Amino acid sequence: MAARINPSILTADFANLERELGRIATADLVHVDVMDNHFVPNLTFGPRMVESLQRVSPLPLDVHLMIDDPDRWAPGYAEVGAFSVTFHAEAAADPVTLARRLRSLGARAGIAVKPGTAIEPYLELLPEFDQVLVMTVEPGFGGQSFIESTMPKLALLREAVSGSGLDVWLQVDGGINERTIVTAAEAGADTFVAGSSVFNAGEPAEQIALLRAAASGHVH
Ligand code: DX5
Ligand code: ZN
Repeated sequence: MAARINPSILTADFANLERELGRIATADLVHVDVMDNHFVPNLTFGPRMVESLQRVSPLPLDVHLMIDDPDRWAPGYAEVGAFSVTFHAEAAADPVTLARRLRSLGARAGIAVKPGTAIEPYLELLPEFDQVLVMTVEPGFGGQSFIESTMPKLALLREAVSGSGLDVWLQVDGGINERTIVTAAEAGADTFVAGSSVFNAGEPAEQIALLRAAASGHVH
């Protein structure tokens, strides 16, 4: 299976986002990190920004909500046309009802876990989701180092997904570069978010190709 590469625009030039989107047009999806200064100590975009990005993006938007009370706020991102909406398990009061609502609005539903959050309680909910995001850094900032101790969660997820025949994408986010992508792919990930490694590269398209090549042959 081919690896999906989703560059995160968190490290892009916020004053020139349309141009930045053009530099990553060979990727699979654009990862948009929504932060509310409550769930994480950082503040980024809201739904109107996502709507504007959607209008000019050559690729569908993969929205990662690092916000409190996603039960209330996540559907708004599906309503403005996000391809996928991923909310945090730690923040959601009723993940299943929220996932169903997102799907009914036409978005893929995703659930994310921080490095310290166990995945076992969510394995039985896999049919309700289109993707699971295993954070490989503490959410909040780009440019942090990959936390390898998160990898056993991917192995559990990969086993559960393969055994069930479900088509659930397994995403990693944080500290992904041409070395750590191999570790994450071998552990079971098939979808890779990369922020600083793509946007700090001289030529983002070359880095995207490098990441794809590094992961290929290692994705289950
Ligand atoms: C972190 C964000 C990530 C971030 C990754 O909270 O969810 O998407 O942009 O950045 P890098 O790839 O630099 O670790
Ligand atoms: Zn993210």
